[in-house]
Amino acid sequence: MSNQGIKIATIGGGSSYTPELVEGFIKRYDELPIKELWLVDIEEGQEKLNIVGNLARRMVEKAGVPMEIHLTLDRKAALKDADFVTTQMRVGLLDARMKDERIPLQHGIIGQETNGAGGLFKGLRTIPVLLEIAEEMQELCPHAWLINFTNPAGMVTEALLRYGAHDKVIGVCNLPVNMRMTIAKLLNVETERVYIEFAGLNHLLYGIDVYLDGKSVLDEVLTIMGDPEKQISMQNIAPLPWDPSFLQSLRLIPCPYHRYYYKTKEILEEELVSFKKSSTRAEVVKRLEGELFELYKDPNLNIKPPQLEKRGGAYYSDAACNLIASIYNDKRDIQTLNVKNNGAISDLPNESAVEINCIVTKNGPIPLAVGELPTSVNGLVQQIKSFERVAAEAAVTRSYDKALLAMTINPLVPSDKLAKVVLDELLEAHKEYLPLFLKK
Ligand code: G6P
Ligand code: MN
Repeated sequence: MSNQGIKIATIGGGSSYTPELVEGFIKRYDELPIKELWLVDIEEGQEKLNIVGNLARRMVEKAGVPMEIHLTLDRKAALKDADFVTTQMRVGLLDARMKDERIPLQHGIIGQETNGAGGLFKGLRTIPVLLEIAEEMQELCPHAWLINFTNPAGMVTEALLRYGAHDKVIGVCNLPVNMRMTIAKLLNVETERVYIEFAGLNHLLYGIDVYLDGKSVLDEVLTIMGDPEKQISMQNIAPLPWDPSFLQSLRLIPCPYHRYYYKTKEILEEELVSFKKSSTRAEVVKRLEGELFELYKDPNLNIKPPQLEKRGGAYYSDAACNLIASIYNDKRDIQTLNVKNNGAISDLPNESAVEINCIVTKNGPIPLAVGELPTSVNGLVQQIKSFERVAAEAAVTRSYDKALLAMTINPLVPSDKLAKVVLDELLEAHKEYLPLFLKK
């Protein structure tokens, strides 16, 4: 750590989520005294950066913490000598998300931000940018940790670990934190008393066991989750109820995103209803963002507005800030992170990214081994990992054939012919951000 005090660079600093992060840093100032927080954005994001940056300044002033907020479009200046770099951007902004959701739905298949065809395209646009950042970090802040929240976080972490110039990389998602909070609520106990043994991939995460004060309560939790009124979900995923007998025989806690794989038909029907009303999640988020930025502009606002909790990423700062605080303080606590597998899940490659409980030390996270995954879920996990790997390779090589292969092997894309049609349409729609993909 530099003796000048901690410097954090947040790429995509103009995001509507930034007040979350700032609140998280303020709350932890005693254990994590950040001297400089650099919020970086691109030119198109300048206005949002100013609005959110000014709110951040009011927040630190109100809290009375001496944290400098720097706003810049110069990424290299922000990266220079940073201790931690966090990334939270959306290449192509919400309009690109809209295309990722709508084009597959036009062809009657799942249109989602991080899964299926949409997830593939978000990855293709995002991975090259993250690899560029990794290269710049190697030059400008070689000791810094890159903490990525940019989706699809699993695929992006996979690409960074396999092809990146910088190996201090950790992928973060709010889902494990949210699942723990929700399960504690269902059990009617404080979150701190609950421990979940997690393993899987990002947005394909399983709770292998749940403990309350150290005693397994897995059966109790599975029983509660069978109640249609007591579903675990996120703001962005319809809380379609699980079949109680499926939960019992699975004997694992599925994550909200598993609905895309185990309830494909029903969730597609849901999506199509919204699509016909012209309001996929991207449109909902666009409206929410508009409202949030109106609030952020208010010069009297000096806290994170509660409306931010309507976003699927609510509480992501708990994940991000806890991680940074634990590395900085060598806390050796357990957090669920996207890291290099290194044998922790024995059926997956050592070099691949997995989402798993880790001990967080000053030298980074150490994954806790779980051995083999149960037969019932190993297949899906392998299939999604294959998809992520082929997709990451497509992003790096910019190969049309590889992109088509990734699309075709994704379980949410039901035909090779349709894969090609959807791929071509998405490539055309996103050509501004994917200029180098050559169509055969
Ligand atoms: C979940 C995921 C995040 C994702 C978010 C989308 O929380 O874990 O990775 O970004 O949902 O929420 P949104 O409000 O943008 O639909
Ligand atoms: Mn996530």
